[in-house]
Amino acid sequence: MAGKSRKNEVLNVALIGTQFMGRAHSNAWLNVTRFFNLKRPVSMHTACGLPVDKPEAFAAKWGWGQGVPNYKRDVVANPDIELVDIATPNHVHAEIAIAALEAGKHVSCEKPLAGTLADAKQMVEAAKKAKRRKQHTFVWFNYRRVPAIGLAHQLVTSGKLGRIYHVRAAYLQEWGGPDTPLVWRFDRKVAGSGAHGDLNAHIIDMARFITGDEVTEVVGSVEETFIKQRVIPEEYGAEIKGKAGRKGTKKRMGRSTVDDLVIFLARFKGGAVASFEASRLSTGNKNRNMIEINGEHGSIRFDFERMNELDYYDANAPAAVRGWTNIMCTDGTVHPYVANWWPDAHVIGYEHTFVNQASDIVNILASPSVKPVVPIADFADAYKTQCVLEAAIVSARERRPVKVREIT
Ligand SMILES: NC(=O)c1ccc[n+]([C@@H]2O[C@H](COP(=O)([O-])OP(=O)(O)OC[C@H]3O[C@@H](n4cnc5c(N)ncnc54)[C@H](O)[C@@H]3O)[C@@H](O)[C@H]2O)c1
Repeated sequence: MAGKSRKNEVLNVALIGTQFMGRAHSNAWLNVTRFFNLKRPVSMHTACGLPVDKPEAFAAKWGWGQGVPNYKRDVVANPDIELVDIATPNHVHAEIAIAALEAGKHVSCEKPLAGTLADAKQMVEAAKKAKRRKQHTFVWFNYRRVPAIGLAHQLVTSGKLGRIYHVRAAYLQEWGGPDTPLVWRFDRKVAGSGAHGDLNAHIIDMARFITGDEVTEVVGSVEETFIKQRVIPEEYGAEIKGKAGRKGTKKRMGRSTVDDLVIFLARFKGGAVASFEASRLSTGNKNRNMIEINGEHGSIRFDFERMNELDYYDANAPAAVRGWTNIMCTDGTVHPYVANWWPDAHVIGYEHTFVNQASDIVNILASPSVKPVVPIADFADAYKTQCVLEAAIVSARERRPVKVREIT
């Protein structure tokens, strides 16, 4: 069913997962047809979630054609569905993606590609076979589609900073304190890892994407779990904060089996050195996804808490005016994706990054030769990030440098 150019044919999408990312993706599929001139019409065909999440009510609220509880029966086996969009916890990415690919569907999957390297490997193998049948895979590394990050990518890969010396990336959150209950994100069997797979996955991808370079070695890594016991939530699938039991009821405690924080040092093929930090215990930092890149001719720095801005330092500017320039990345004539949104400086937010990505997915599925304005990650690309994540885990465990090629 997948393959040839399908311009004008309706693209039937099925979403799996109906909570945090389920809402972000639903918003994207809902709005992409309104804000972008797509090369194919899109139909929000089916939303699938566990019965506890009431998928019928979710579907009705977000404009999906139907809400269903069983992805194998109701999505994979439905020949009308062409794209399966996965927004579930990490432990089921592989089984859903592989089943959908084997059924001839395109797949877009949330990050990290998988909770474990073994799962990720199977997904890449399935994607490789599917690619021969002209099926596509995509991974929702949505930060690539922040206009300021798109601009950073354009500046760095066009050589504006010259030789890159130093990449400094950190993704810092504070929500993982002792009062946060034992939601799936603290269960290694479900999540694979903690802050590492959740947050370092994003900044490894961003560092690779912005520089166009690859990490070759993790030189050293530290992993720590500070909060070892957490309250078991009353309800399954609580979103990030969850509800830690009714007032007055006795709290049951369970063990967190993931890291709260992972910091590692790395080397890039092109010679740059890098530091990566992911933490859910960085008190005061809400969603501080930041990256700074220092090069021979200049630097860039970005902080998601001010996502419409990119700071740029031009080392070749006249000395009298040399300094950091704060660029408002909202000019539709030059900044990626912005032309589809609002007039200059009418800023955009988190949700727009998903809409931007949905537009690229649709246009590629309309016409496989389409090249999006910034590159999009497929399973093979996301696997490279997964290997760096794994190298950092091995480095922390064995207290030694780990070459990424040892992992692959
Ligand atoms: N790109 C981002 O910025 C970003 C942010 C948060 C989470 N994520 C990723 O998105 C994914 C989902 O995270 P979330 O925060 O939305 O989780 P969540 O707990 O909020 O929602 C998970 C959903 O998956 C559904 N689900 C679980 N198992 C299922 C199954 N077998 N069949 C059908 N539905 C099933 C649940 O019913 C629920 O609706 C994870 O991989 C996570 O790493 C990405």
